[in-house]
Amino acid sequence: QPKPVIFSGIQPTGQPHLGNYLGAISNWVTLQEQAHDANETLLFSVVDLHAITMPQNPDKLRKERREMAITLLACGIDPKKCILFEQSKVSGHAELAWILNCMTPFGWLARMTQWKSKMGVTRGIQSIEDVSSTAGLQLGLFAYPVLMAADVLLYKATKIPVGEDQVQHLELARDIAVTFNKTVKQPFFPLPRPVITETKRVMSLRDPTNKMSKSDASDQTRINLVDAPEVIRSKIRKATTDGIRGISYDRAERPAVANLVDMYAAIGKVSVEDVVREHAQSTNAQFKDALAEGIITALSPIQKEMERLGQDVGYVETVLQQGATRANEIARPNLEMIQTLVGL
Ligand code: ADP
Ligand code: NA
Repeated sequence: QPKPVIFSGIQPTGQPHLGNYLGAISNWVTLQEQAHDANETLLFSVVDLHAITMPQNPDKLRKERREMAITLLACGIDPKKCILFEQSKVSGHAELAWILNCMTPFGWLARMTQWKSKMGVTRGIQSIEDVSSTAGLQLGLFAYPVLMAADVLLYKATKIPVGEDQVQHLELARDIAVTFNKTVKQPFFPLPRPVITETKRVMSLRDPTNKMSKSDASDQTRINLVDAPEVIRSKIRKATTDGIRGISYDRAERPAVANLVDMYAAIGKVSVEDVVREHAQSTNAQFKDALAEGIITALSPIQKEMERLGQDVGYVETVLQQGATRANEIARPNLEMIQTLVGL
């Protein structure tokens, strides 16, 4: 029985924010410790090939790739315990994606939701004509889930930490793996399974019906990991609340306050019940001040480390290069087997 392989990726576009940290990166750090203790192989990838499925400015993308690597390292991703690398530096991702493209039915991709939401497609897609008439839809964005399948299958990864928004893509990856195995008449790919983390989604500071996102046009809706203390205080102070006195937790009736309570609990690593007990009598302003200070305290060491690493680009480059080399050592023999199996 080969030891489990864990793969997860994060796109390098935009400013990493508190939602990314609480919802993904901090979980990765926890997972890293578990995987290290269990002697499992853990790969974290800055998925730049996914980033170019949307139009990118080359210089900006280069800068954001570095910043994402720095952010991950500053948050506690440890290259001694995992393999941290840039997707484009391991060519097997693109090579396997092509082979899988040739086995993936078009209709499976037409059913995926992500390209529709990125294209702003709201009506149902009934036919190939509906897809091809979607203005500005490039083949790469449409086929993005196949690249995601290649990302995990390239390493025969079975444990995939994903947000709930990615579960559909992982199901597709499983279907593609099954199709490949049938085609080559052997169980070559083990089936990847989601590792769902129980963290709640961090919602926008201004609209608790939307998640905090780097693609939100307004910077006031999110706490960026690089935000200075004054910026954090100001954004939290202006966050949406309600007119009800005291702090209580009710997702349905008080969604904006509940979001702040969730943030406070997650950042302070305490339970929602404890937060509510501590702040039952607080005014919104008092609670917000406490929350802002909690965020500032939690982000302070990360920000110091980001600054330090930003001055040591050579170190970051070396980490990524070594990561790519190690990832490639796993990927290359797998890819060669795959090529042989399909006759290449
Ligand atoms: P964004 O929506 O800001 O572009 P991504 O889609 O790049 O973020 O997501 C990167 C990771 O961060 C994913 O694992 C995703 O589930 C997680 N994530 C993104 N936004 C949030 C949020 N608001 N709350 C919790 N997790 C989030
Ligand atoms: Na996104």
